[in-house]
Amino acid sequence: MFDRSRKGERALLLQAQAPGQHDPALMEEFAELARSAGATVVATLGARLERPNPRYFVGVGKAEELKAHKIASDADLILVNHTLSPVQERNLERLTECRVVDRTGLILDIFAQRARSHEGKLQVELAQLRHMSTRLVRGWTHLERQRGGAIGLRGPGETQLEIDRRLLAERVKQLQKRLEKVEVQRAQARRSRERSALPVVALVGYTNAGKSTLFNALTGAGVYAADQLFATLDPTLRRIDGLECGPIVLADTVGFIRDLPHDLVAAFRSTLAEAREADLLLHVIDASDPERDTRIADVDRVLAEIGSADVPQVLVYNKIDRLEQEPPPLLLDRDGPLRAWVSALDGRGMDGLRASISKALSSERLHRKFTLPSASGRLRARLHALGVVASEQTDADGWVIEIDAPRALIEPLFGLPGGDGEWLKAALLAPTHRATYNRSRATRA
Ligand code: GTP
Repeated sequence: MFDRSRKGERALLLQAQAPGQHDPALMEEFAELARSAGATVVATLGARLERPNPRYFVGVGKAEELKAHKIASDADLILVNHTLSPVQERNLERLTECRVVDRTGLILDIFAQRARSHEGKLQVELAQLRHMSTRLVRGWTHLERQRGGAIGLRGPGETQLEIDRRLLAERVKQLQKRLEKVEVQRAQARRSRERSALPVVALVGYTNAGKSTLFNALTGAGVYAADQLFATLDPTLRRIDGLECGPIVLADTVGFIRDLPHDLVAAFRSTLAEAREADLLLHVIDASDPERDTRIADVDRVLAEIGSADVPQVLVYNKIDRLEQEPPPLLLDRDGPLRAWVSALDGRGMDGLRASISKALSSERLHRKFTLPSASGRLRARLHALGVVASEQTDADGWVIEIDAPRALIEPLFGLPGGDGEWLKAALLAPTHRATYNRSRATRA
């Protein structure tokens, strides 16, 4: 359904700023997004704007200037770093005789190229169709010349652009149904993961930071075979064995972008569920990006928006092969997050990264063995229902239960009534209780 980018569409960029505001980084970030979508930036134009003009977004004079720039630079696409109303977009296209794509359209286009999971692809298509359905009225005839896999027109193919709203609505319905099914499957997979109490580690990061490359490096050669259940359901979930902390599930997510439009955040909420429900986030950063600290803040902002602000992070500084100075392989801050310096491309620092994943997870997991008296059948049932029981045997005193699970999963049980919660807390947290700290290496070998 989605074409890969056709390199070299010639893009003219428009960035408006309020009077008195002058932030060159805005245009630079936008140019980078345009390049991510496969465009070649041939010209840029800034505008001072007190408030958007309902007709052209910018004033008439600026719109005329845009047209002149378009002609001078021979651009075949105008990208506007703001959200345009369908009317503004149509008017600008008419005036400039050029395809105009707003920030939302551009981001959707990038997501369309990058979505890897089945669910992600469905969500992008749905969001694109919705974005497009508000714009269908304009009639595409004034752009008849420009066709094919072009930015903003990618996605639903050109024949679909011409179909009527009824067909579009049907397609949306069909996609929604498929998405619901995938969501059910995903929830099932999550439950089965909870049953096995595998911690989930999610890769997050600004677009182009190297998440997918790192995903492959961590799950590829040298580690154990992918768990088929996750692999077939979703190519962005893989089990990794061989870590100090025991097996984990690694999840890749869609790249983050600054000022992600709000309706898009909503559209990708469930794709990003992996990040929200993860035990640990690997926050991947392009260490060679001069704007890397801004990017970190951008990603943290999106994480807060989707409700993942409290999930612990390891900051993974990637692409160290592009740095002039050799960074330390692993920095352990006493209070701050763990940091690892790696190159997903040449494999440098990967051992340090694995160690920091283990370190971060170990402190977040509870692993104990204790004897539960035979009279505590109710508590035993709760533990099983939660899926945190790693092993169980019976002896004369009751059940010998081994718990191994994320701490956050178990902690709510400490509030159970009738003394159950108190008892469990003592059993799991008291240092002298009949608990073993040693995780059996034999079972993981
Ligand atoms: P999105 O899909 O947009 O979220 O991107 P991503 O974060 O998954 O990035 P991806 O893995 O696709 O990498 C982006 C680019 O950076 C690719 O061209 C990679 O080859 C390159 N890259 C990734 N890791 C490294 C690295 O360690 N060193 C260098 N030099 N390049 C890297």
